[in-house]
Amino acid sequence: MKEHININEHGHLVFGGVDTVELTEKYGTPLYVMDENIIRDNIRKYKQTLEAEYGNNCMICYASKAFSCKEIYRIVNDEGIGTDVVSAGELLTAVSVDFPCEKIVFHGNNKSEEELLLALNCDVGMVIVDNINELETLNYLAKKVNKKANISLRIKPGVEAHTHEFIRTGAIDSKFGFALETGEAFEAVKLTRTLENLVLKGFHCHIGSQIFDVEPFELTSEIMLEFMLKVKNETGIYANHLNLGGGFGIKYTDEDKNIDYADYTKAVAAKIKEKCGELGLLIPFISIEPGRSITGQAGITLYKIGVVKDIPGHRQYVLIDGGMTDNPRYIMYGAKYDMITANKANAPLTTKITLAGKCCESGDLIGENMPAPELESGDIIAVLATGAYNYSMASNYNRLQKPAVVMVKNGKSRTIINRESLNELLKNDV
Ligand code: LLP
Repeated sequence: MKEHININEHGHLVFGGVDTVELTEKYGTPLYVMDENIIRDNIRKYKQTLEAEYGNNCMICYASKAFSCKEIYRIVNDEGIGTDVVSAGELLTAVSVDFPCEKIVFHGNNKSEEELLLALNCDVGMVIVDNINELETLNYLAKKVNKKANISLRIKPGVEAHTHEFIRTGAIDSKFGFALETGEAFEAVKLTRTLENLVLKGFHCHIGSQIFDVEPFELTSEIMLEFMLKVKNETGIYANHLNLGGGFGIKYTDEDKNIDYADYTKAVAAKIKEKCGELGLLIPFISIEPGRSITGQAGITLYKIGVVKDIPGHRQYVLIDGGMTDNPRYIMYGAKYDMITANKANAPLTTKITLAGKCCESGDLIGENMPAPELESGDIIAVLATGAYNYSMASNYNRLQKPAVVMVKNGKSRTIINRESLNELLKNDV
């Protein structure tokens, strides 16, 4: 992350070529700031490395749950990749900026009929079907609107990835998808063959998020290919789309590795090619769905300090004007972040602080033991690598308003999501 930031002659943190202290004066705090160049570079890196391995036989779908708004779909579309959506809300947002529906992959473990109908009406490129109910409902709805839906089945490959248990999804005890071990996945294939308005294109898996090891991805590809061979041998169908999901980890603090995604893509591709050779399968059409690794490091959050509270012998609390409402990842996962004091970015880090939010909740923290200079009311704190799963997981707890999001690029800034107003907080109340 640190390679994306600079410090100017005023000792201010600069992000995307813009003085972040000036950003807070112009747009207020708390403020999410996203750097468009980082987002575009990350997408291009994925595109280049994937296409180098598979040519045209692949697709990248940005997992928009990481950060969803009109502008991100515009950028993603402009870069020529697809997107994954998991709700009517994400789908409508993408469609509202003319995202090409054939490049939309529709996910969800409990899609409503309304959502499935919307997906059918939009002609999304692929519905990833999670369960038997959904297979039947989608077939019934597709028949009703006289369409055939392209589907992939979501498979639990049974792989354990080393990540926080809440963001681990590939093992049998997961609420997502069809299990391999029990034969459930194969039964789903057989059922699909009897459903006339569904076209089985392939299989999907996603083993978790913020994963740093490449082995689970390699192992998963092998397991999925073996399953695809079984389906081919026993049904005669080679449904040749293999979607390997997302999950690549990013560096939040020095405790995390800096992953080169090209190495990962190469290692997984080598395994896929080797395994296909061994099984006598044609190389499938490969999709991946990175979310965090596209927008995570492209974002920072700027806060203003209201109060500094010393508890001698214990700790110093630094109270900011946001917290768990704009970044719930500490309270949910114990996630760690780096911070920089944006208006004193060169000041020596002489102390350690607890960065705490303004909610009525003791666990409302962004971090503990964070190295910091001497801080006072009015200082601006930048928390780094907040571009994924922050705005998209923000809440209105304590009736706090959601912050604005500003996009920066080459020294210029523009609002891409307005700050929620107090009146907007009341708009649904009767
Ligand atoms: N595809 C599927 C089916 C997914 O469920 C996810 C993430 C992704 C792709 C993208 O994974 P990524 O590349 O971003 O790791 N709120 C948690 C993360 C939850 C991830 C959910 N699924 C967090 O803040 O860490």
